[in-house]
Amino acid sequence: RSDIPTTPAADERLADSAFLRACRGQEVPHTPVWFMRQAGRSLPEYRKVREGTAMLESCTRPELVTEITLQPVRRHGVDAAIYFSDIVVPLKAVGIDLDIVPGVGPVVAEPFRTRADLERLRPLEAGHVSYVTEAVRLLTAELGGTPLIGFAGAPFTLASYLVEGGPSRNHEHTKALMYGDPQLWADLLDKLADITGAFLRVQIEAGASAVQLFDSWVGALSPVDYRTRVRPASEKVFSAVAGYGVPRIHFGVGTGELLGQLGDAGADVVGVDWRVPLDEAARRTGHAKPLQGNLDPAVLFAPREAVEEQAAAVLAAARDVPAHIFNLGHGVLPTTDPDALTRLVEFVHTRTAR
Ligand code: CP3
Repeated sequence: RSDIPTTPAADERLADSAFLRACRGQEVPHTPVWFMRQAGRSLPEYRKVREGTAMLESCTRPELVTEITLQPVRRHGVDAAIYFSDIVVPLKAVGIDLDIVPGVGPVVAEPFRTRADLERLRPLEAGHVSYVTEAVRLLTAELGGTPLIGFAGAPFTLASYLVEGGPSRNHEHTKALMYGDPQLWADLLDKLADITGAFLRVQIEAGASAVQLFDSWVGALSPVDYRTRVRPASEKVFSAVAGYGVPRIHFGVGTGELLGQLGDAGADVVGVDWRVPLDEAARRTGHAKPLQGNLDPAVLFAPREAVEEQAAAVLAAARDVPAHIFNLGHGVLPTTDPDALTRLVEFVHTRTAR
């Protein structure tokens, strides 16, 4: 009988979750919260399970990925999980010789500099990353009504690691290639777009509820260079994952001058770092998209009252935004006190309960 109340099925709770409702610009019971880099070194339980296993190796073990992804959900009560992996995982999966060096980041054995290097970027097939499919399935079963966010690195940010050979402040080799051989640059970004699009599709088809494209270092570009030399590739990524009904989030650091374009590239939600207040970010995105952000991650080192004051300022600036997903303006810093994150989730939920 239909009038007997039943527990809603997990997929119904999922579709009705605060996070997915906000991504669609709908009314929410409270402002949803998650944190970029919520899974990772700030958590003692993460350091414990990672002990003795290299970063990239741990990304290929579905049970370990599942445990690490769930840790911040259990501990902080965040409104979404983010799949534990790294932006260089799909590159490794197609055969690029690279490693993640502790305290440094991704390091590529032979940096990309010439047309011949393009041959090393083979197309990504689901079979290259079967551990991702398996881990996403395990996770969605465990998460029930909590959404899982899949992610990938955007073509520019991936190209920067490939061309520089590692992390870079000024992206000098990347820009030398971009300005010096525009056709090779365009071909490189186009290949990376195909790999990224395929990697996001694997995550969506296995059950991810949303995806985030991290173009972490694209704030190094002027608006005109972004428009002509990078955006076509990012648009290709968003097109590859259109039509699933899965919200697409687009984030970069230092992208104040690019916010309108980050939305126009094909995102449903625009991520904002801490440099631009959300009311101003809404103006720059034409009041057209839900926004995600944007507490400065370093604020979490201040006393509790100061954290709450700054979080309240973020919420106040988000008042007239089409919809708001609370996050930091960049990833959780490794030495952050995890209790400060738990208290912040509680603060945002209580403060915004409708
Ligand atoms: O909780 C989550 O957000 C999921 C995990 C995640 C990792 N990397 C795990 C990781 C995510 C979303 C990423 C994305 C990523 N990786 C980005 C985009 C996000 C951003 O911060 O802008 C970038 C630029 C990278 C490249 C990368 N990988 C860096 C800069 C580092 C840190 C280097 C260091 O040691 O300081 C990594 C390594 C990495 N990726 C770690 C983790 C947990 C640390 C390695 C470890 O724990 O041993």
